Amino acid sequence: MCGIVGYIGKKEVLPILISGLRRLEYRGYDSAGVAISHAGKVKKIKSVGKIDVLAEKVKSVDLVGSVGIAHTRWATHGGVTEENAHPHIGCQDDLVICHNGIIENYRELKENFLKGHTLRSQTDTEVLAHLIEIFYEGDLLKAVQKALAEVRGTYGLVAMHAAEPNKIIAARLGSPLVIGVGENEYYVASDTSPMLAHTKNVVFLDDGEVAEITLESLKIYNVEQKAVDKNIEKIEWDEAQAEKQGFDHFMLKEIFDQPTVIKDAIRGRYSLDEGTAHLGGLNMTDEQMHQVKRVVMLACGTAYYAGLVGKYAFERLAGLPTEADVASEFRYRDPIIDKHTLVFAISQSGETADTLAALREAKRKGAFVRGVVNVVGSTIARETDGGTYIHAGPELAVASSKAYTNMVATLILYALQFGRLNRVSVATGERLLNALLEIPEKMKLVLAQNDKIKSLAEKYKSYKNCIYLGRGINFPVALEGALKLKEISYVHCEAFAGGEMKHGPIALLAPDFPVLAIMTKNQLYEKMRSNVEEILARKAPVIIIATQGDDEVKELSEDVIYIPPTMELLEPLLNTIALQLYAYHMAVILGKDVDRPRNLAKSVTVE
Ligand code: M6R
Repeated sequence: MCGIVGYIGKKEVLPILISGLRRLEYRGYDSAGVAISHAGKVKKIKSVGKIDVLAEKVKSVDLVGSVGIAHTRWATHGGVTEENAHPHIGCQDDLVICHNGIIENYRELKENFLKGHTLRSQTDTEVLAHLIEIFYEGDLLKAVQKALAEVRGTYGLVAMHAAEPNKIIAARLGSPLVIGVGENEYYVASDTSPMLAHTKNVVFLDDGEVAEITLESLKIYNVEQKAVDKNIEKIEWDEAQAEKQGFDHFMLKEIFDQPTVIKDAIRGRYSLDEGTAHLGGLNMTDEQMHQVKRVVMLACGTAYYAGLVGKYAFERLAGLPTEADVASEFRYRDPIIDKHTLVFAISQSGETADTLAALREAKRKGAFVRGVVNVVGSTIARETDGGTYIHAGPELAVASSKAYTNMVATLILYALQFGRLNRVSVATGERLLNALLEIPEKMKLVLAQNDKIKSLAEKYKSYKNCIYLGRGINFPVALEGALKLKEISYVHCEAFAGGEMKHGPIALLAPDFPVLAIMTKNQLYEKMRSNVEEILARKAPVIIIATQGDDEVKELSEDVIYIPPTMELLEPLLNTIALQLYAYHMAVILGKDVDRPRNLAKSVTVE
């Protein structure tokens, strides 16, 4: 939620801040602002709307300088207005801050400290700006440390003061901040994407740390205000991965990335001879693996649906009772977790607040907690006791696509690794791995149907509602497909398990209520076919996802998307792509902002 970027060096800062904000726009895009420190003054410009609006506005203002901070907002406290946009100032305009997170005790702080201060916005952040101003006695680092000692809540924070022109203070608690280390220059941002074009060397701030960044040095202090030595880490992602590369939208580019990036999730993580996977990050001895009696997948949104596929894989391959749990529910129940439970915290961003809180709870209860994460160095990756990066590369569209398939592939490998401890033979493991290695080429065959899928979206564009139906391992695929359609095209779409239709949803069906049925050739094929016939009897139009070569399906509907055959367990890796493309084209045809759907942000770092 919200993105922060900052720069200190010799270059003109404005273009760096604007392009950095564009990179972070997926984190929030209802308003934005920049502040630049130059010649003993701090100037700021803010605007409501996307970064394009701000980029236009700054053209008419004289904003020179080589030190600055900027912010793109996803509103939490206070509506979407220019006053509520960041950067915020105190009573004077010499101190500016940008903040990501929530100051929970802002009312208390206001009452206790801000007598006589005039606040201009409805945000919790502005209270923090005034608090720092109160504590400022010529040393911004000290003022920020004193103010943060009074704060309850979460923050990723950057601050500048006109009186200390070559300095940025950055602080983190619960909201990520990364510092990029260049040649006589530093970058600071909510994630690494704004700095990929400039440096690959980064320092991840840990919770409670405050950094003093000047032209000459980077000093980092822990919560006790003692200086700490931090490692400079190298990021592997490159700039080109974060470009649209000729596609109209990031989402389309990321859908088409899948045959390439899934190889990165699999490479070096299996042995065909032994018919098994070797995920080194699991970080467990064989003895510890044998101690596992139960598996729990914790995640939100698309990552949760990947976890549901993981449940099928673990039950089938490893014979372990497995649950997938929505992290926001798990954290407020009294979940039964013990030292025989293996928990996977699954997350693209690695920053999702609910998933993080849930994994902490699972750790507290003594479970083995492992991450299945995309963003390197993210909080979830760092707080788990091991795990695996899914290597999907930067995912910038708000709607997740390639991260999902790489999560599924990773979880299937984990399930195989556990399965080989007991019920999976070498031959079965080898068969599964060979089928998995064929998936990238088969993904390309699904992608080759892009035009056909686009024409189906065109045909169905005027329907306001629809149902997605799947059974078995394709039920989570239906859920994921329906989420994609809702979030980017705003078409109302619900997913049900085929067997549930007769228990209620069938009442909805009518000629104006289409159904998309996933009816690929697997053990539940006949059951799905019965569902489709029941739907047709109610005169509802049906789109069918079928297996290549299944000609009988044409008797049921003329609207068929054919998918290459594969093992049932791997079907989600292919079937989901058809649904991603359908949602994408529907959103484009309906004129929606595909990469930045309304009301959403890419990483949900608040509850
Ligand atoms: O970064 P995470 O994978 O933890 O994010 C979880 C969800 O917020 C995310 O999958 C969300 O549902 C996406 N918008 C789905 O496309």
